[in-house]
Amino acid sequence: MTLFEVEQLSLHYLTRFGEKIHAVTDVSFTMKKGEILGIAGESGCGKSTLVNGLMGLFIPPLYPTDGIVKVAGESLMNRTPEDIRKNVLSRKVSMIPQGAFNALNPTRKIKDIAADVIAAHMKDIDRKAIHTRLRERFDLFGMNTEKVLNSYPIQLTAGERQRSVIGISTLLNPRMVIADEPTSALDVSTQKIVIKMIFNLLEKEIFSTMIFITHELPLLRHVADTIAIMYAGEFVELGTAEQIIFDPRHPYTKALMGAMLSAEAGQKQKKPTAIEGAPPNLAKPITGCRFAERCPVAKPQCHHTKQNMRIIADRQVRCEYAQ
Ligand SMILES: Nc1ncnc2c1ncn2[C@@H]1O[C@H](COP(=O)(O)OP(=O)(O)OP(=O)(O)O)[C@@H](O)[C@H]1O
Ligand SMILES: [Mg+2]
Repeated sequence: MTLFEVEQLSLHYLTRFGEKIHAVTDVSFTMKKGEILGIAGESGCGKSTLVNGLMGLFIPPLYPTDGIVKVAGESLMNRTPEDIRKNVLSRKVSMIPQGAFNALNPTRKIKDIAADVIAAHMKDIDRKAIHTRLRERFDLFGMNTEKVLNSYPIQLTAGERQRSVIGISTLLNPRMVIADEPTSALDVSTQKIVIKMIFNLLEKEIFSTMIFITHELPLLRHVADTIAIMYAGEFVELGTAEQIIFDPRHPYTKALMGAMLSAEAGQKQKKPTAIEGAPPNLAKPITGCRFAERCPVAKPQCHHTKQNMRIIADRQVRCEYAQ
């Protein structure tokens, strides 16, 4: 069953100077219930912007340019942020944000922040039932439940804070979870604990469908069923995790893989090769392939021929010369 549908979604920021930044362009994909999609790409390629669009959350200066997002057949477009917050977030689509600190109100204890989420969506539930529910849920996270619930965010370790944010984001068993670099601010051992917690929640079916965004492409091999590679606001390759990691076809995916130290068992530790150059300025119209300037195999015509997604080797690739 298709749970999540995104058709030709384009998003832009309108700056104070009236300039349009085309942060996301022509993104299309569908997800079935139970699927985990990984999205990877360099900093600034539009991942976090896309997340806001996928939740239907358009707060100026971000605006939809075109396209549609649907959750279980329901459109998230043309809705007010209030409507989205009340009727979509937490229950249908929930986000685990990039930085746990900013996501938690520093003046309130974790139990109060969490209780508000339940109270806002379950009208007839009393305080005692809320706290019982909270304790049961937090007991799954491998932390000292009482200590964490009774703490202010600043009193917790970074790992406890991130686990609390994940716990709060998934309290109402959302149909769809979007995790925006949920481990990027953590040290390696804490990252592992947080990933384990996410797997535990998947196993317990607290949620089953997830978009997982990261800089670290190799991490997705263990997490994702399918992977989308994003460059300068566009998806440039979309396929299974195996295809993208072991047999990339788009020159950018190849370059991105080369730029990552592979810690995969059985793979040689290669020295990463940085991708030369920088992504294009998204405020200017781009006529050709967005990667052409940095592409090692670009042809003269690539600089002025727009590239569309096409099927090569059973996956989608935005390059007419990829094989
Ligand atoms: N409020 C804003 N106003 C104008 N432009 C913005 C705004 N927020 C982001 N952008 C621009 O939109 C583009 C995409 O940014 P975004 O934060 O979505 O990238 P990202 O892939 O999430 O990066 P990172 O990996 O660093 O989190 C960038 O060019 C960025 O400068
Ligand atoms: Mg981001």
